[in-house]
Amino acid sequence: MISIISSDEIEEGTSKGIELNNLYMFAVKKDAEVFLYWNRCPHLGTPLEWEEDRFLDPDGALIICSTHGALFEIEGGRCLAGPCKGKHLQAIPFILDNGMVLVEESALRAPTPLQ
Ligand code: FES
Repeated sequence: MISIISSDEIEEGTSKGIELNNLYMFAVKKDAEVFLYWNRCPHLGTPLEWEEDRFLDPDGALIICSTHGALFEIEGGRCLAGPCKGKHLQAIPFILDNGMVLVEESALRAPTPLQ
């Protein structure tokens, strides 16, 4: 297992970009729960954030793509509005161990190609 980030490094209601060996992902903490996704919009494959570590809309309620404004549920990553409506961000499976987000090495290959 590879340690990605400590849950303590993500403030409640915020997001954080993570780079590991040229792989780009991001984490969101909502209601003390952590969510981890590849940093790639299912529309055109671009990175999502509009500023460093800023992946959420102004309310902090949804993930937003800075390119065309697609909105995604934090839980599950489903696109609710925008050009990729109905598609999903690709989640990265992880476990939490003593507050550390741990991912299997095999899950840290590049995300699957866009459909
Ligand atoms: S690239 Fe994200 S909505 Fe178009």
